[in-house]
Amino acid sequence: MVTGEGKRPLKTLERVLSKAGICSRTEARSFIGAGRVTVNGRVIRTPDHWVDLGRDRVALDEEPVRLKDRDDLYIVLNKPKGYITTYKDPEGRPTVYELVKDLGEWVVPVGRLDQDTTGLLMMTNDTQFAELMTNPDHKIPKTYLIKASTLLTDEQLDMLRNGVELNDGPTRPAKVTRVRDSGKYTHFELTISEGRNRQVRRMVEAIGSKVLKLVRVQIGKLKLEGLEIGKWRRISPSEL
Ligand code: URA
Repeated sequence: MVTGEGKRPLKTLERVLSKAGICSRTEARSFIGAGRVTVNGRVIRTPDHWVDLGRDRVALDEEPVRLKDRDDLYIVLNKPKGYITTYKDPEGRPTVYELVKDLGEWVVPVGRLDQDTTGLLMMTNDTQFAELMTNPDHKIPKTYLIKASTLLTDEQLDMLRNGVELNDGPTRPAKVTRVRDSGKYTHFELTISEGRNRQVRRMVEAIGSKVLKLVRVQIGKLKLEGLEIGKWRRISPSEL
């Protein structure tokens, strides 16, 4: 939000604290409620109190808080094969950070894709959003296109639909659509609402096949929309 006069950016006190990287929004609310936060020297106990980033002085336990007037940034990257979803790799493999260098802003990946998986990877500087999206309780659907190493029967696809037993517990019911059978392989689409480590590969192994190719094509309503492999684009607010 900005004020009309002079277009000064305004943020709620709770957001100012979380954006400063000091604490989560929940913690901020509790610090504010406990009277530990001042604005221009006055204790404020309302998390929704508007702070003028250009003028107000905020302090937590009498320590000044550096106000950040930075916009949230959300991007989608079409991850190529061979890149790993980490900042630095001790083995020196290429990382997704090399593909977003031109962004000029520190972002974190929203979940992970395996080295050999391609497709949709969200990245953002809004770490709370990233946490929210990856929390399994929120059941954000993620859709993958899979090439299996064998032809799959309807019974095998039903097993994926109903949930299979993995070593870290049964999977939730999933949406499965056969796309086509070509020669010795089945191509199908799988939508899951969890994000466990190597989950899709392990699910396909659990029905006696293997993943030859794995592409993430959608998260929630967000799609790649023709984005070239290795490229990123900003996500519009309506897509979020
Ligand atoms: N499931 C996998 O097995 N790998 C991924 O990269 C994503 C989901």
